[in-house]
Amino acid sequence: MILSKNISKSTGSVFSGKNLIAHGAIVVRNEGLSVLSLGNTLKATMSFEKERDYQRCRARIEALCEGSDDQIAKMASIVGVLHNEMNDFFWTGFYRVVEGRLVIGPYQGTVGCLSIEIGKGVCGTAAARGKTQVVEDVHDFPGHIACDERSKSEIVVPVTDESGALIAVLDVDSVEKGAFDEIDRECLEGIVAHVFGGAMTH
Ligand code: SME
Repeated sequence: MILSKNISKSTGSVFSGKNLIAHGAIVVRNEGLSVLSLGNTLKATMSFEKERDYQRCRARIEALCEGSDDQIAKMASIVGVLHNEMNDFFWTGFYRVVEGRLVIGPYQGTVGCLSIEIGKGVCGTAAARGKTQVVEDVHDFPGHIACDERSKSEIVVPVTDESGALIAVLDVDSVEKGAFDEIDRECLEGIVAHVFGGAMTH
């Protein structure tokens, strides 16, 4: 589509080496090339990169956890990989079900609360409902427990074993609002289901 004498617009992809860095509307000017519709283009690019990062993490986690039947060792390995490899993971950790409460397990990040009542906060809600909670803005979640004021968004995934019993929740916090979406839900649920033998919660 010709927009003016020196500017035309079409759809295409921008590569850096082999990596797709943008896809969508591009505009060609007489002095060079720039990307239009940056919002959607960037979102598509970020989703693509996030899925690729999760695939790499999952392969590492599967290799690390293979043959281990120690739950804490496996939780520590999952946290070690995800926290250090994924963008925006400010706090990454497990709360384990111990005598009817959630008690902190392996984690990385700033100091977390030691224990949480089932039904309370984002973690306790995920545990009580057996359903992943994706919280775009923690200030909008009634009863959110702030372990670190800098956390702005959060995802909490219930973890079950082969018998379907709830053994823990996996909690990830970000300092960015809206950091987590369906991709995070699906990939994190997939990782914990694979490692601990439970079913996907969806
Ligand atoms: N925000 C959580 C508490 C745990 S910390 O984020 C590490 C909640 O509301 O359950």
